[in-house]
Amino acid sequence: ARVEKAGYRHFMAKEIAEQPVVLADALREAGRDGTLSLAADLDFRDVDRLTLVACGTAYYACVVAKYWFEQVARLPVDVDIASEFRYRDPPLSPKSWAIFVSQSGETADTLAALRHAREQVARIVAVVNVPTSSIAREADAVLPIRAGVEVGVASTKAFTCQLATLLLMALKAGQDRGVLTAEQVAAHRADLAALPGLMNHALRLAEPIALLAEDLAEAQDILFLGRGAMYPLALEGALKLKEISYIHAEGYASGELKHGPIALIDARVPVIVMAPRDALFEKTVSNMQEVMARHGKVLLISDARGVAEAGAGCWRCLTLPEVPDLLAPILYAIPAQLLAYHTAVAKGTDVDQPRNLAKSVTVE
Ligand code: G6P
Repeated sequence: ARVEKAGYRHFMAKEIAEQPVVLADALREAGRDGTLSLAADLDFRDVDRLTLVACGTAYYACVVAKYWFEQVARLPVDVDIASEFRYRDPPLSPKSWAIFVSQSGETADTLAALRHAREQVARIVAVVNVPTSSIAREADAVLPIRAGVEVGVASTKAFTCQLATLLLMALKAGQDRGVLTAEQVAAHRADLAALPGLMNHALRLAEPIALLAEDLAEAQDILFLGRGAMYPLALEGALKLKEISYIHAEGYASGELKHGPIALIDARVPVIVMAPRDALFEKTVSNMQEVMARHGKVLLISDARGVAEAGAGCWRCLTLPEVPDLLAPILYAIPAQLLAYHTAVAKGTDVDQPRNLAKSVTVE
């Protein structure tokens, strides 16, 4: 069937808005056909290491997954950009698995990286949106993310579905390796099942974000900061923004601020801080205060507790619902996407077809 904009101004707006439904459907289907438990087939007991490889937004999903696998499964993870992996020729353990994440399943560098790993690892796993794609065909095991057709060049719903799939894998690994009990896994899955509801709340930020995007659209440079699993979200937020608004943006680990980017801070540089009220919150807030002491314009994205504790002195605050720590990267993707989208709309760029970019890069 032809995919339509269904009343939205852009495919990207539609794809952002449909995420709660898409994720709920994907989780339901995964439960039905057994990919939720990843069948007995994907058994992590004898795996000594994972190598996650991808490009672009899919790569940032892999960086989030590294935090998850290490935390809930105590499994060491290497993450690589496909174009680096394929030529660096890293030594791979024969007991390791290599996981390739790709929306299209056709990205040339990711496919070449898969072929490069082929003879060296115990198993090749593909996490793809297109199950008939080249990457899926060449893998030993395929996990469909079930995001549906994604038209906007800037990936949105595929990112959150990639994250959900990778989290389910990490939970399975945690259980197989005896780090998580069956009850703990069930509790995390129940949290995940409730996530689409929280995403609906997060989507209500579209209006306040559209307003502040008028100001962001004037900026030359924008910085995104995050710590822990919010660090890759800062990277993704910056990528989304630069892809479609053409504003220079950088994502940084909050703790690295003082090792370079703080030199850029002045009253004209918006700094977007993604910080749920978790165990790392106070550390991030102290980095944020370093920005404010230099008259940086801080946009804090947190939950009600975080905003109450640290919102004073910020340029703007956006409040998300509270979310279990593990799921925060999936929920916080929504304001990151909305910020990029509305800033691009304010600038009048071609949101769905940004200049110089392609949806799927099938050449090196
Ligand atoms: C292109 C797209 C990105 C995407 C990347 C990887 O650069 O513009 O949105 O993240 O390719 O694509 P893949 O299909 O492998 O996920």
